[in-house]
This record gives sequence, structure tokens and C-alpha cells, in this order.
Amino acid sequence: MDTERLEITEKNIDHAGEIIRRGGLVAFPTETVYGLGANALDADAVRSVYEAKGRPSDNPMIVHIAEMGQLADMASEIPAVAVPLIQAYWPGPITFIMKKAEGVPMVTTGGLDTVGIRMPLSEAARDLIRAAERPIAAPSANRSGRPSPTRYEDVLEDMDSRIDAVLLGEDCEVGIESTVLDLTGEVPMILRPGYITKEMLEFTLGSEVKYDPALFVDPMHRSEGEEFHPKAPGMKYRHYAPKAEVKIIEGDDDAAVEREIEEQLRLCKYARQKAVALNYGRDSKAAAKDFFARLRELDREDVDVILVRALPEEELGFSVMNRMLKSAGYDVIHV
Ligand code: TXA
Ligand code: MG
Repeated sequence: MDTERLEITEKNIDHAGEIIRRGGLVAFPTETVYGLGANALDADAVRSVYEAKGRPSDNPMIVHIAEMGQLADMASEIPAVAVPLIQAYWPGPITFIMKKAEGVPMVTTGGLDTVGIRMPLSEAARDLIRAAERPIAAPSANRSGRPSPTRYEDVLEDMDSRIDAVLLGEDCEVGIESTVLDLTGEVPMILRPGYITKEMLEFTLGSEVKYDPALFVDPMHRSEGEEFHPKAPGMKYRHYAPKAEVKIIEGDDDAAVEREIEEQLRLCKYARQKAVALNYGRDSKAAAKDFFARLRELDREDVDVILVRALPEEELGFSVMNRMLKSAGYDVIHV
């Protein structure tokens, strides 16, 4: 199929909304990463998203809404703790897990009785949802296992001729996927860290927020037979993986880290490997915005090894390191 390239105009958004209504697939910008959207209430349309991504169908999708009125159609129960969080962070880069309403097809939630719901900040995204007149189920618009797309060129790299249309929006401002916060337990639990951090959420609530303990487990180094059970099913797949080998260089002493990067670059040169270092210093925001796009760019340049300087693992740095560690398969050099 020919994938339509649609500039962001009122007419094109209406057209894209029509594609969604008739069961088609439209990739669209959000403030986090590009999403691959389908009518969340149409089981067949949602199935075709899994197909286009090459994604296992037990992986639940996030349902995107544009108006508060749509929340009650998606969730059977809105927990009290959700109220201040929604007020503080929607529209924005955070997904809340709630008990699903009956009308949400099981294929949308990967067979779970809960649903992830997000109201994106991106105007283009909310305009599309309004034009579709339905909530839009959307995973990130990458082929399964590839880095999430933060520019429309990256969407086309993975999805050209596999989907109906792409909205040609801006590059994504945040650059990593939304925080996923489970509100179905006694204490809110972060299943996927993102731009909205644990510290921010605790400040808003004035009470404790937990991390899914699985976020701290290195699945690569577990003994055989042990299973890896993150609560967000999507977190268990090999993720964000470029073709190049990624290594993280971690340490508190700046000079020692720089020396190790130089040393590694030299070793790669001897081995006739093309190597590049990514050093964002302590700037987690810049790293979030750049990292996925940079991995794709280095793949196009046929780089063999990418050396990534670790970020301080606090606040946004923790969220970005979660992606960096996964892309590296947890290969870390401590200096
Ligand atoms: O920023 C984002 O969240 C982007 C944009 C497009 O909104 N979307 C995105 O979707 O990253 P996706 O499918 O790539 O990741 C969704 C994550 C997965 O890890 C999935 O397992 C988790 O959210 N998730 C969704 N619904 C869930 C549920 N009911 N229970 C637990 N985890 C859920
Ligand atoms: Mg994804």
C-alpha cells in the first residue's frame, strides 16, 4: 500500500480522522514519540497495528484521548488518586493504568482487564483524535525491537508502505515514551519511567510512589530458569536496539570516564570497527530528545560500536538510562 504523507493542515487532519474511522492506520506526532494509531474500539483495526509493527499481540496498547469526557468511556472506575494527577499532568507525557471499561476490546489491552490511557499534549495528536471522533490506540510507530521514532523520517524508515498515512509533524520535544503509572494498586506504581518522574509525582500527591521492582533487574544476567516479569508487558521485549553494539561507560570521575572513552575508541580502531561516542554530560533533557534519533542515524552510517556515557541516575536521568541500558543489553563498563 502507498503510505500517504500528510502535512499538518485542517483538511489533512480531517482526512486522517476518516482513515482511522474506516479502520486504517495513521502515524502521528506526540510530544513523546510518534504513535501508530488505530480506532481503539475496532478490534480488527487494532489487530492490524500488531501486524504492521511485527509485535507480539500480548503487548497492550495505550489509548489516547482528547477530552476528559472520553475517559469515562475507557475506564470502568476512576480512582481518587487519579484526580490530582490528571489535573497536574494532562494533557502531557504520562499514561495512567486503570480498570478497563467493557467497551474496550480485549485485543486493545492485550487480554488484560486494565487499560493504559493518555491525553497527549501535542495539538496535532489531539486534533487527530477529535477528527476521528474516537479514542485512538497507539503504540510507538516503530517496527518491534527498533528505537522509538521521534521524527517522521524515522517513522517512514520503519513503516513506509505498511500503513495508510503519516502526519508530517515536528520532531518530538520529549523524545522518550510516556511515564506509565499503574493506579490499580494501593500505592501508585511506575511501570515505565518517563519525563514525569517519581519525584514529581510524589510532590503532587504528597505521598509515596513506587517503581516496579522489575525495572532494577537486569534480565540479561539472570540465572537460567528464572523468569522476568515486569508489570508492563512491553518492558520485557528486547527494545530500542540498533544494529550497532552499544556500551555504557559509567563513573563519577569525569576525567576517568573521558579517558576510558578514548581508550575504547582506540581499541575499536585497532579492531577496524567504526566507533562513535555519545556524551551528553549531565544533560538528561538533551539526551532524551536526541538518543533514539541518534541511534537510527548511526545505524544508517553503519557504525559498529556506540559508546554512551551514563547519565546521573536520578529524575529524568533515571528514565533515559532505562532506555540506554536496554539498547546496550546492559553492557556497562564501570570506571
Ligand atoms: O509516549 C508513549 O507512551 C507513546 C506515544 C505514542 O503515546 N506510546 C508508546 O506505546 O510508547 P508502546 O505501545 O510502545 O508502549 C506502551 C507501554 C508498554 O510497555 C505496555 O506494556 C504498557 O505501556 N502498557 C499499556 N497498557 C498497559 C496495561 N494495561 N497494563 C500494564 N502495562 C501497560
Ligand atoms: Mg514502543
